Amino acid sequence: MSGNVRIELPQARKDSHLRSGGPAITVRNLDKSYDDNHVLDDLSFDFERGKVYVIMGPSGCGKSTLLRQMIGAEHPDAGEVLIDGIDIHSNSRRLRDEARRKFGVLFQSSALLNGLTVAENVALPIQRHTDLPQSTIDLMVKLKLELVGMGNALDKYPYEISGGMKKRAGLARAIALDPAIVFYDEPSAGLDPVMIGVIDKLIKDPTSKLGITSVVITHEMPSIFRIADEVLMLWNGRFVFRGTPEALRNSTDPLVRQFLKGDPEGPIGAPRQLSELSERLIGPSARDARSATP
Ligand SMILES: Nc1ncnc2c1ncn2[C@@H]1O[C@H](COP(=O)(O)OP(=O)(O)O)[C@@H](O)[C@H]1O
Ligand SMILES: [Mg+2]
Repeated sequence: MSGNVRIELPQARKDSHLRSGGPAITVRNLDKSYDDNHVLDDLSFDFERGKVYVIMGPSGCGKSTLLRQMIGAEHPDAGEVLIDGIDIHSNSRRLRDEARRKFGVLFQSSALLNGLTVAENVALPIQRHTDLPQSTIDLMVKLKLELVGMGNALDKYPYEISGGMKKRAGLARAIALDPAIVFYDEPSAGLDPVMIGVIDKLIKDPTSKLGITSVVITHEMPSIFRIADEVLMLWNGRFVFRGTPEALRNSTDPLVRQFLKGDPEGPIGAPRQLSELSERLIGPSARDARSATP
């Protein structure tokens, strides 16, 4: 009888579920410096399961650095990161692997390997983390690529496809193992508004339908208001804002206001190199000249 047929979920899928009942991600007292550049300053926060969290902030404020500490790609100077209660920086390789299987990552560059086809790129994490037969892997890869609208590009090489398609292939790879958490580093960078809308939908839909927790680094204001349950703004190593998109829109904080308006004048200074360049080209600014006057 068909009712008796049992379908075994691949081991990878069972492993990827969140089990602790606690937050999807917990960060405690995270600190990171590069030489005398103090990038992350004693950050602590929790991310609940099943929500989209957007992390925003000026270029160079440390968003990607925070991401690297959260996924265990880099070791913090102090503090801890728990993925479903498991320390991603644990000394135990078994625990690190267990935590690692719970999330996927879409990097800023998509990070596809040029020597492999799109399908082979998406198959990589499945091959690395499971013992599934190739025929099952092929099926999983095809499903994921169809989900992101890339079902007809399986045999293309990364250099043969557009930026938007690369992002979608990177996304298919990030969700290949049905992770409970997905991290995205600037998924819309360099894409046109329509493709940004497509990517937003690909982020938002699985979050609400499958209870996935998404952590998205982005500057794209329309995206933030479309996808975020909560927004966090990183500045000077700390979160200077955390709240709903609505609260962000209504915030009177000068840092938030300047960032939302894209105003060159305000508490967020222009990047140092840019100020130095403009100084060389057009001389010290009026303000600097005033403050230099005795
Ligand atoms: N591997 C590294 N070595 C030294 N400095 C780094 C390294 N990675 C990032 N930084 C510095 O840390 C700061 C934050 O960088 P990053 O996290 O890339 O910022 P964002 O992603 O917000 O643009 C910058 O000043 C950057 O130059
Ligand atoms: Mg970055």
